Amino acid sequence: MATITVLNGPNLNLLGLREPAIYGSATLADVERLCREEAAQHGLEIDFRQSNHEGVLVDWIQEAGRAMAAGECIGVVMNPAAYTHTSVALHDAIKGASVKLIEVHISNVHAREPFRHHSYISPAAAGIVVGLGIEGY
Ligand code: DQA
Repeated sequence: MATITVLNGPNLNLLGLREPAIYGSATLADVERLCREEAAQHGLEIDFRQSNHEGVLVDWIQEAGRAMAAGECIGVVMNPAAYTHTSVALHDAIKGASVKLIEVHISNVHAREPFRHHSYISPAAAGIVVGLGIEGY
């Protein structure tokens, strides 16, 4: 069965507890359930992961690139969280591994602090979903 890899960056393990006025009360387990239910309706499988470590996320993007080349993975949905605004390494990994990736943010980063307005991920992404809450996944 074809797989979509869903990657989550730092502090998203705290979803539900973390700044609920911004991110809501749903947990990362709720997000995973939502993704699996939606994918099942399309006959797809979800490989759902979270890490607080940039290098681990780089490794997982490269792994997804190999899975895409092997025809096992159809693409990546990623919420890079704070690394969105800092990580040239994630940008390079997406491009270097030729990964088709949709960048997702739960909150509308453009309506928040100026440091959240720039994304290193967007120029390497196939598409962007911002500010739709966990439904954006
Ligand atoms: C976020 C937005 C980022 O600016 C922030 O660092 C996050 C979560 C979002 O989903 O809205 O951790 O990616």
